[in-house]
Amino acid sequence: MDIKTKIIELRQQIDAANQAYHTLDQPLISDAAYDALMNELIELETMYPEYDDPSSPTKKIGGQILDKFEKVTHTTPMMSLSNVFNREELYKFVERVEEVVTSDFVVELKIDGLAVALRYEEGILIQAATRGNGIIGEDITNNVKTIKSIPLKLAKPISIEVRGEIFMPHKSFHRLNQVRENNNESLFANPRNAAAGTMRQLDSQIVAQRGLDVYIYAIVDPLQYVTNHYDALNFLKSLGFKVNPYATLANNKEAIYAAIETFDNLRKTLPYDTDGAVIKVNPYDKYDVIGYTAKSPKWATAYKFQAEIAETTITSITFQVGRTGVITPVAELEPVVVSGTTVSRATLHNEDYIKLKDIRINDQVRIHKAGEIIPEVIDVVMSQRINQQPFEMIQSCPICQTPLRRLEGEADHYCMNESCDAKMIGQMIHFASRVAMDIDGLGEKVIEILYERGFIKTITDIYKLSQYQESLETLPGFGPKKVEKLLLAIEQSKSQPFHKVLFGLGIKHIGAKVSKIITQHFQSIENMYQASLEDIQNIHEIGPEIANSLFSMLKKPDFVEMIRYLKSAGLNFENVQKDIKSHAFNGKTFVLTGKLENYSRDQASDIIESLGGKVTSSVSKLTDYVLAGSDAGSKLKKAEALGIQILDEATFKDMTHA
Ligand code: IVH
Repeated sequence: MDIKTKIIELRQQIDAANQAYHTLDQPLISDAAYDALMNELIELETMYPEYDDPSSPTKKIGGQILDKFEKVTHTTPMMSLSNVFNREELYKFVERVEEVVTSDFVVELKIDGLAVALRYEEGILIQAATRGNGIIGEDITNNVKTIKSIPLKLAKPISIEVRGEIFMPHKSFHRLNQVRENNNESLFANPRNAAAGTMRQLDSQIVAQRGLDVYIYAIVDPLQYVTNHYDALNFLKSLGFKVNPYATLANNKEAIYAAIETFDNLRKTLPYDTDGAVIKVNPYDKYDVIGYTAKSPKWATAYKFQAEIAETTITSITFQVGRTGVITPVAELEPVVVSGTTVSRATLHNEDYIKLKDIRINDQVRIHKAGEIIPEVIDVVMSQRINQQPFEMIQSCPICQTPLRRLEGEADHYCMNESCDAKMIGQMIHFASRVAMDIDGLGEKVIEILYERGFIKTITDIYKLSQYQESLETLPGFGPKKVEKLLLAIEQSKSQPFHKVLFGLGIKHIGAKVSKIITQHFQSIENMYQASLEDIQNIHEIGPEIANSLFSMLKKPDFVEMIRYLKSAGLNFENVQKDIKSHAFNGKTFVLTGKLENYSRDQASDIIESLGGKVTSSVSKLTDYVLAGSDAGSKLKKAEALGIQILDEATFKDMTHA
C-alpha cells in the first residue's frame, strides 16, 4: 500500500473510532489500539507533510456534538494532551521545556473519565459542559448538579471557571453493571464508558443514582488567584473542590520519572481508574512562553501507563514455517500498544492452543507479552464474538503445499519437505544470526533476496558467494561497498568457535547450551562421528531425544556432505586450544552489568568463557570481576561495597588481549 493510501486509511479508521467513542458511547477499539493508530498517523504525517489535511483527526480535539443537549461554546478551548509512552520520550519532552524555562513541574494522576468545565458566578454553579469537540461542548448542568462531590456553592463568592474529570469509582461501576445484568441489559465495558454514558442521560434522576465522582485539576485564567499550578490545586481545595491528593512537585526529569513509577504502583490500589500521569509546568507565567500546538499545550504532556494486557481484534490467522518445518499459527492484529511497543502480530503456538481457547478470526482478544518479549493471545472476549466458524488447522504447507504431518505426542504440525523454501531460508537466517555465526549484513531480508535470485539455496552456498562478487554488486540495494562488507563478514565468520558452528547448523534439539556441552565433550567433529548413540546419551545433561537427533543427523549423507564442504571452506569443526591456563580470566567469576558499547552480553560472556572464566548473574563475595557498562545500577554499587575489582570496557578489552 502506498503512503498516501495508508494515511487516508488511518484517518478513516480513527474518525470511525472517534465517532463510536465520543458520540455513540460504544468504543470500536481499545484505548491502546486507538493510541497505536494515532501514533502511526502522526508519524506518517510528520514524515510526509505533502499529504497534510486540515481535517485530519490529528488536528481535531475530540468527537462530535450530540443533539440531545444545548450546545455551549467554551470560554477558552478545552484542549487535549500530547502523549509520551516511555522514559525516553518523557525525557525528550522535559528537555525541550528545560530549554526555555527552569525545571519546575507538577506530576498528577491522569484520571480516566470525561472532562468537564464548571462555571461559577459569585460562588454559585451556573453551568457545566462536556468537552465536545473542544470548542463547543454540551450543557450537562442538570446532570452535574447531582454529583455529590461537585459544590453548588463555593467557599468564596467568586466568579471562576474550573476544569476537571468526572469518573465512576469501581464500586459504583460494579453496582451498576450488577443491576444491569439482573435486568438483562447490556453491560458497560469499563468505568469510563459508564461515566460517559451516564452523563448523556437526559433524566438527571438516573445520573443521581449512578455514584459518579470528580477531581478538579485546573482553573481557567488562574493568574488572578495564584502564580503556579501547585498553589492552584490548594486554592481549588480551599474553595471546596475535590482535588486529587497525589499531585507531586518535581524539579528534574529523574524526579518526574520517580513520581510516575510511584503512581504506576499506586494505581493498582486505587478505587478508580487512572490511565497515566500528567506532567505540567508549575509556573503559569511560562505557559505562553512555551506555547501550544493546534491540539495541545506544549507545557504539559500525558505519560501513558503501559498496558501489560491490551485488547484488540484478530483480522486473520496466518501460518509461519520455521527452519525445522514447524508450522506456527500467527494472529494478525489491529495494531495495539502493549508494554510500550506497538504489536500487530501475536503467536498462537499451535492447533491445540487455538482449540483450547477457541480462538477465531474477528474475535476480540486480550494479548500480552509472554516473558515480556513475545506477543501472545491470552484469551477471547467471548461477549464480543461475532464469528460462528471455529478455527480449522491448515492441512498443507502454505509455502510448498506439501501435506503437513503432526507427529505422535507433539502439538506441532510439520512440513516434511526437506527442500521447502521457507525451511531453507529459515535455516540460513538462523545460521547467519548474531547468536550463531554472527554474519553482519546477512539478515532475513538479504537472505530472502539472495535465495530468490538463486545465489544461495543452502548454508554451504554462503561460502561460495565470493565467486559472485560482481553479479551481487548489481542487485538492487546492494552496491560494491555493501557486498564487500558482506563478504568480509562471511570470511570472518570462519573463526567462530566450533560450538557456534554446530548450533548454527540448526539440528533439532541442539540449542546454544547443548551445543557447548557436546563440543566440549567431543572436541572435534571426527570424534562425534565415531561416537555410538550410547556414547552421546551418556554425556551429562544430554537426554535421549537430543542424542537421537544428533546421532541420526550425523548419519545423513547430505549432512556429511555439508560438513565436508564447510570444513574445507575453513570453518571450525574442532575446539581450538588456546593457552588459557595463564590468562588473567582463567578460573575467575564475572558479573556483567550496564550497557556495553562494543559487545553484546552474549559476546562478552563468550570471550570470558573462551579464556577460562565463568559468568554469573549476581554479585557476591565469590565474584572476582564486575564488567560495568554505562547506566550500571545496583550490581555495581554492591560490587563497590564488597571491594570487588570493577573493569570498564576498555580495560576489559585490553585484558582479553593480554
Ligand atoms: S490537564 C490542556 N490533568 O486527560 C488539557 N487532564 O487529553 C489539560 N485528564 O481532556 C488537561 N486527568 O480530560 C489534566 N490531572 C489531569 C487529568 C487530565 C485526566 C484528562 C482530561 C483531558 C485529557 C487529556
